[in-house]
Amino acid sequence: MRDKRFPTLNLNVETKNLNIPEDLKEKYIEKGITELNPPQEKAVDAGLMDGSDMIVASPTASGKTFIAELAMVNQVKNEGGKAIYIVPLKALASEKYEDFSERYQELDVMMSVGDRDDSGDYLETADIVIVTSEKLDSMLRHNPSWIHEINLVVTDEIHLLTSPNRGPTLEVTLTRLRDLLEFQMLGLSATISNSSELADWLDAELVESDYRPVELKEGIMEGNEIEFFPEDYGNESSNKTNNDESSGFKTGKEIVKDEEEKEDVETEEVFIEDKHGRPTSNLVEDTLEIDKQAIIFCSSRKGAEKSSDRCAEVTEHGLSREERQELEEYSERILNVLGSPTSQCKRLAKNVADGAAYHHAGLVNRQRSLVEEAFREGLIKTVSATPTLAAGINLPAYRVIMRDLKRYTGGGMDWIPVLEFEQMTGRAGRPKYDDEGQAISLAKNPGMKDEILERYVLGEAEHIQSKLAVEPVLRMHTLSLVASSFCTDFEDLMDFYEKTFYAYQFGDMEEVEKKISSVVEDLIEYGFLDEDVSATKTGKRVSELYIDPDSANLMIESMEKASEKTTRPVSFLFMLSRTTEMKPRPRVKDKEWGEIQQALSDAEEYVLETVPNEWEPEYEQFMECMKNSMLMQGWISEVEEERLMDKYGVAPGGIRAKMSNADWLIYSSKELARMKDFDVEKDLEKLRIRLQHGIKEELLNLVQYDQIGRVRARKLHNHGIRDQEAIREAKFEKLKKLIGSATARKLKKQVGQENIFDRENITDYF
Ligand SMILES: Nc1ncnc2c1ncn2[C@@H]1O[C@H](COP(=O)(O)OP(=O)(O)OP(=O)(O)O)[C@@H](O)[C@H]1O
Ligand SMILES: [Mg+2]
Repeated sequence: MRDKRFPTLNLNVETKNLNIPEDLKEKYIEKGITELNPPQEKAVDAGLMDGSDMIVASPTASGKTFIAELAMVNQVKNEGGKAIYIVPLKALASEKYEDFSERYQELDVMMSVGDRDDSGDYLETADIVIVTSEKLDSMLRHNPSWIHEINLVVTDEIHLLTSPNRGPTLEVTLTRLRDLLEFQMLGLSATISNSSELADWLDAELVESDYRPVELKEGIMEGNEIEFFPEDYGNESSNKTNNDESSGFKTGKEIVKDEEEKEDVETEEVFIEDKHGRPTSNLVEDTLEIDKQAIIFCSSRKGAEKSSDRCAEVTEHGLSREERQELEEYSERILNVLGSPTSQCKRLAKNVADGAAYHHAGLVNRQRSLVEEAFREGLIKTVSATPTLAAGINLPAYRVIMRDLKRYTGGGMDWIPVLEFEQMTGRAGRPKYDDEGQAISLAKNPGMKDEILERYVLGEAEHIQSKLAVEPVLRMHTLSLVASSFCTDFEDLMDFYEKTFYAYQFGDMEEVEKKISSVVEDLIEYGFLDEDVSATKTGKRVSELYIDPDSANLMIESMEKASEKTTRPVSFLFMLSRTTEMKPRPRVKDKEWGEIQQALSDAEEYVLETVPNEWEPEYEQFMECMKNSMLMQGWISEVEEERLMDKYGVAPGGIRAKMSNADWLIYSSKELARMKDFDVEKDLEKLRIRLQHGIKEELLNLVQYDQIGRVRARKLHNHGIRDQEAIREAKFEKLKKLIGSATARKLKKQVGQENIFDRENITDYF
């Protein structure tokens, strides 16, 4: 038998002539990567290590990241350049950052997400830079010098070019980089049906593979019965090849396969005991019985939370004492992530103590990573998740339960795209632990089973399609191209757009030209471009600030009015609510109509636009903006987070996301106000601090101190400690009672009273 402690060093790299340092190979082996898998081998054969441009399209968990790592090591270590790794989500950036910086300690790995007004000068020394496409786009607007050192650009999840929200930015950024520099381009994609189009556009090699490290068994559950379909089900040509290639010996199953209708024979039926009266709960029970874990995909945050509550009722009975103890600790940590736990935190913490959890974009980051960690350790048995979890985060489970295959899309309930379905079901099977993974879709009513079979089990993933043609998107990118002098006239712009995936796919440049010229006209009207299609000073700043030109125009017009009339915080809150960046706005429910109408009419004299009449079509939009302003107004009036969540139907993560967008918009409007000499900067700065902390104006003096936020400032204020003077005069003991001794000490230090505690401490001992 082979000694497991000393695996043979056969990372297949010798035969492939891979130029990788020996110590790195050993690190890979330690992590269980002892040889290249089929897609990796194909990529190497196609010239990965010779700098060839390449699109790799292969299923979830087929090891695409490692392909990128080989290219990075080659380009950075051997060629001495810089590699950019583009990810679609911040959460994914952190995951990659942690992995890469641990594995490549001798390299300078950096991550750049967040702040939108920054050229990334600190990236000068980096070898590997992990960014989101938005961040990279925003840095390109500042023309940083370090980009000339790039010799590899990896785009993870490149099929997201098809996403209406994120695709266009990625598309423009890639086109721009390719126009500017010579580098190796590596795109990592899920399996899509037109990957050759993508490769063709980028003039890249196409490496396709359907390799999966663990076999995926797809099943559909109707009632208490699951029918499993083998991988090549319905694929007659593949049946034939199998038979052609077989060695002449046929198993009983194969013989039947040849002779009978495939539907009758090839599938496998399994009955699940009905212990809980609910398919998902029954499946969870069954999963626990075989000592495995499950991910349950749901279509909404609320659905995921509810599903998790129900799973918890099942999982709590199957925990060992040790598990219970460890889960208690996780639960405690999750509960206390925020200053004061909200009902969200309590609900999640309670679920986690019982061995279940939910996972969606409304969670605070720290909570999300704790959930992932506890799931990887096998403590949490079920995660009920929204599709965010499917996007490249490496969190496999033996069983994936596809609970909701339809979701609300504005126009009604729609089937989810096949591409998404595949990314979710692809989470099934943990490579080192399971020999198979199961993806089970729930057919909720008769007839649904056949549709699921046709659409997903037998169906092909959609074509990906450029979404660049949408006007607001074109407006933003056109301004940026001109403002960073990347294009200097209309011809240049057209040359640029001709190189995009959009132009490649649609071909009709006349249509494109019409659109671009209408966008250019808008930008001239806003005063962001001159007639000769060069950027004005304001236009340049708007582009750097990374806000929608429409929003910028609206803010400039509003602030101009503001400098001529009396304003209240609501004036600016309403202005912010009107921007694109504040979307989605809360919908106004019928029963709230009266209240919000009243508020809008009260606010009308302070609002910086003309409020339309009730019968005009824009009125409803104004009502939504009013509701959004009221939410923000509640936040800066110190209304409890919990109550705001209830009243406005937002999650805590949601409030924070909104406030962080608002913060950016206020920063931007301040910058614009300064350029235009509008006298509103002070008001905006006050509002900005109030929004950051969620405080009334009277606490402004206190929150300037470190570690004094919404809650502590309020306590101090209510006890008469309201400014620097009062902090100095206050007895340490009193402060300690109010805000705890460590914070009290820090506070005293900040007002220049550092040493007095030594004495007080001594009195504690005697
Ligand atoms: N050659 C290999 N041998 C063993 N394990 C491997 C090999 N290559 C990659 N892996 C492991 O497979 C797992 C999944 O890889 P990875 O996250 O790169 O998948 P992916 O193809 O990017 O999937 P997704 O489409 O979900 O992003 C990782 O844990 C990785 O360490
Ligand atoms: Mg990946």
